[in-house]
Order: sequence, then C-alpha cells, then structure tokens
Amino acid sequence: MSNETWLFGYGSIMWKTGFNFETSELCHVKGWARRFWQGSTDHRGTPEFPGRVVTLIESASEHCWGTAYRLPACEATNILEDLDYREKGGYDRTELSLTLSSGRTIAGITYIAHPHNPNYLGESPLEDIARQINFSTGPSGSNKEYILELHQSLKQHNIQDGHVETLALRILRQTESTL
Ligand code: BEZ
Repeated sequence: MSNETWLFGYGSIMWKTGFNFETSELCHVKGWARRFWQGSTDHRGTPEFPGRVVTLIESASEHCWGTAYRLPACEATNILEDLDYREKGGYDRTELSLTLSSGRTIAGITYIAHPHNPNYLGESPLEDIARQINFSTGPSGSNKEYILELHQSLKQHNIQDGHVETLALRILRQTESTL
C-alpha cells in the first residue's frame, strides 16, 4: 500500500498553488464536473455580495480534469491543515480516486463544497452567474481574476471545460459591452 499523499487541484490550486510538491501530473476524476456553484464570502466576495467559485458536482457522464500534486511526506499534514483553514467557507476535505494521464489510478485528497453548506448557491442561468462573477470582489481579489486565471490555466494544460469556457467568454463580452 502506498503512503504517498496526492492532492487534486481543479480550481485556484491550479494557478495559485501556494505549497511545495514533489511532482505534479494531469489527471481526472470520473463522475464529477467542475461548476461555479459555490458562493464565496471570504475570498472572492463578501457576505453581502458573494462571489462564485468552483466546486465538484456529481455527474455520472462527466469527468473533471485537473492536476494531481504529490506532497512531500514531511509537509503533507501542515499543507492540508493550511488548506483546511483557507477553504473553511464550506469545503470538506474528501478522498477521491484520481486517474493519471498514464492510466494509473491513485487515491487523492481534494476539497468539495457540498450542497448542504451555508454558502452553496447551486445552478443559475449562465448569464446571471457571469454577471455575479463580473461584479464580485473580496479579500483575495476580484472574482473575474479567479475565473480568467483558471480559464488560462485550463487552456495551458489543454483541458476542455465547456462550463468554464462559456462563462469566461460571457464575462469578457459583458466587460466589453460596458466599455
Ligand atoms: C482547487 O483548486 O482544487 C480547489 C481549491 C479550493 C477549493 C476547491 C478547489
């Protein structure tokens, strides 16, 4: 049995990793989809005007691609404790099966905001989600920066994600129409 610790990043971790890792590989989780359905009151919005950030939603026919990071054994506990704190606005530390690009399957830890958490917003029309992201900002910066950095990171990794792509393009279009 492996005692390696792998962390699955599918959101901000992909472009703002913020911890040491030994190696990273593209991977996917089967039966899950990335969606901007979690409200952010502490990073990309405020309690009055929440932003929207990604979570994983169960969806049998979909895969979510992201990055698997192997954590240094002597730092893994501290890294995960720091992330538990950073993601305290509704995310639970969860173990999932990760399929690496080589086909190998490993256990990995990730953070999921489940529908029962108090900041969960769920599905809305994409135009409304885009507008909310366009106008929200919080202690970590603008919500627009969050989605555009994620969009860029997915493109750099050749990961297709229709939900993120559609939202990012709508946000850019909304911005142009206000200039
Ligand atoms: C991520 O980048 O994978 C992530 C970070 C925080 C919460 C959810 C996902």
